[in-house]
Amino acid sequence: MRGYIYYKRTQKSKSSLSFLHVVVGIFLAIGTITSCENSDRTTNAPAYQEADFAFKWELKNPILDAAMFDEEDWIAIKDPSIVRYEGKWHLFCTLRGKERSHAMVYSSFDDFEEAAQTTPIVLPNHDGYFCAPQVFYFTPQEKWYMICQAKDDDWSPKYQAAFATSEDIADPNAWSALQPMNVARPPEDRFLDFWVICDEEKAYNFFTCDNGNMYRCETTIADFPFGWSTPELAYQGDIFEASHIYKLPGENGYLNLIEAQKEDDRRYFKAYLAEQLDGAWQPVPSDSIGTYAAVENVVQVDGSWTNSISHGELIRDGIDEKMEASLDNPFIFQGVLHRNRAGKKYGNIPWRLGLLNQMNDAEEQDSTTNRPLYTAAPYPVGTSIRLNMLRNDTVMNIAGYEFNSLTAGNAMKMRRVIREGFEYNFEEADEYLDYAESHDMRMFGHTLLWHSSMPDFVKELEGDSAALYNFTKQYIDTLVSRYKGRIDAWDVVNEPVLDGTGELRENAWYNTFGADYLEMVFRMAHEADPSAKLFLNDYNIERDSAKLEGFLKIVRDLKQKGVPIHGIGMQMHIRMDVPNERMAKHLKKCVETGLLIHFSEVDIIFNRHNDSKGGGKQKYNELTEEMKVQQSDKYRQLAQLYNENVPYDQRFGITLWGFADRYTWIRYFFEIMDWPLIFDDALLKKPAYYGFMEGLGSE
Ligand code: XIL
Repeated sequence: MRGYIYYKRTQKSKSSLSFLHVVVGIFLAIGTITSCENSDRTTNAPAYQEADFAFKWELKNPILDAAMFDEEDWIAIKDPSIVRYEGKWHLFCTLRGKERSHAMVYSSFDDFEEAAQTTPIVLPNHDGYFCAPQVFYFTPQEKWYMICQAKDDDWSPKYQAAFATSEDIADPNAWSALQPMNVARPPEDRFLDFWVICDEEKAYNFFTCDNGNMYRCETTIADFPFGWSTPELAYQGDIFEASHIYKLPGENGYLNLIEAQKEDDRRYFKAYLAEQLDGAWQPVPSDSIGTYAAVENVVQVDGSWTNSISHGELIRDGIDEKMEASLDNPFIFQGVLHRNRAGKKYGNIPWRLGLLNQMNDAEEQDSTTNRPLYTAAPYPVGTSIRLNMLRNDTVMNIAGYEFNSLTAGNAMKMRRVIREGFEYNFEEADEYLDYAESHDMRMFGHTLLWHSSMPDFVKELEGDSAALYNFTKQYIDTLVSRYKGRIDAWDVVNEPVLDGTGELRENAWYNTFGADYLEMVFRMAHEADPSAKLFLNDYNIERDSAKLEGFLKIVRDLKQKGVPIHGIGMQMHIRMDVPNERMAKHLKKCVETGLLIHFSEVDIIFNRHNDSKGGGKQKYNELTEEMKVQQSDKYRQLAQLYNENVPYDQRFGITLWGFADRYTWIRYFFEIMDWPLIFDDALLKKPAYYGFMEGLGSE
């Protein structure tokens, strides 16, 4: 976090004052609130403005991560509740563990940057299940309260809303034993995330049921924490859980931030307003666009680590039962990347804590221009590097800064790895890997089998099935197991399909083993590293439909036979005039396989070639300003195409083939002049850089 102040108030046009007008304006506009006592207040209220609720957040790295601590048992830190008292943050969270499924932990620190250096302390005031705390100071009794949900065999019913009290928030041992609060169960089986907020006379307890219903019950301040009325339905809509309610300063408006869930389980927060705590809740500004914090309006400046904004708290202005908070305050929440939760039971999801800070307009501007490219996307963004680039510090500084996935341009191809007489040479490949690891980049392995990179001695094995089998097995074993656990994924076979027909390309393996060679080599690769993701990679499948059909037939056959194939590599060496609609149609077909999708070798040229060495046709000799803008659009559309069509679980990333025009393979391979990438010959960002970045961040 930047040098921490209590919390950051922004200078943006959206101020608390305009918000209060909005609160009032909404009541006026909606006209459904019957309990609006001060209707004369609305007389001069400005009309409701949607822009006042256009939140834009900045997110840095997680502030707490269960994996940071020396406790092998810990899986997740979640459900934060936090107060600022006597110059320190006091943070209470749920801890998910392997041995004990739920516990509560306490951490205290001066500023958020230090949070990760403190080891949370497990609270001793309950033995069994307790979680989802809310901590505040209850002024009438001069005590700290912790509200939570808990289970105890001695309680009836066993599962209850519960509380504990303490005289000293800084002492984790000072909490009283947990006691049930006797909030009656609604008709639903599930009721959870209890939240208390008080006005002058009453204490209200809100909770949700994971089914779109939010309930409310109440008691008097004198009877708190007992004497709850029968819960009444307080809101029904597209909401899920964690309804957390705050009093907005100065006026009688209340803000309710409620967690909702998208179809694919991604969580986000919506905002609702009510004039009083037992009043009606209205989505702000409406149910469909009332998003408060979601991956779409969060800029992850240190790189994407979450697709969910889940169970969070608005940082409060004070500490007490009134739960006062300003609309501009930061929001603390739990997050996780969709791919890190896929297939996991809820209790095994590695939730981490993050802090959202609202951005002002200048910061918003800055954040789109002054950060690494890869941070724009919720999946890896890569580049491929050739040896002469690897030797150039300026180039490699850019690569390491802008990208978080690396593909070796040639160094892991067969002709580089193995020389005549079975002599392996890993020097270059090792160098790439060292570079990737020291720059926190994912290493993509390209490629095990490729007709264009076969040493002559291998070609000569064609027809001798025993010899070719033995060589291939030994080669794949040696290469893949050497980098086991360090290379996440391999293009197992590159370019196996012929252009225009979809037939299998003839190569030494096809000519020796027939179509079965594909199954054979995928199985070999899997044996060598069972955790590596295995891809089939090809070019033109985004535009050549016969080729795509042939390609997909191989994929389906392999899948049907249970062969370990995990991904499709669409090289995407495209041209400015390849129609987006056609690419979308082809991409959808690839997505239908359910496999991971990697745009593996993206570049966008203006001129033409016939796909063979030296086959370039020069039409454009010069890159004009207009062409630069058109190319920027095409890059943006390409990334949008990916985001729109590839579901989260299938996004393996987008890799550019190089990143600067100066080093493009297009020029020497096809023997034409062209400008296919996002940095120019002087290694400066082209408009395409910004177009691409914008596309990567689109939802
Ligand atoms: C290219 C390299 O960029 C060149 O340096 C080399 O001369 C030939 O290969 N499809 C692929 C890549 O899968 O491996 C190719 O890379 C580009 C086309």
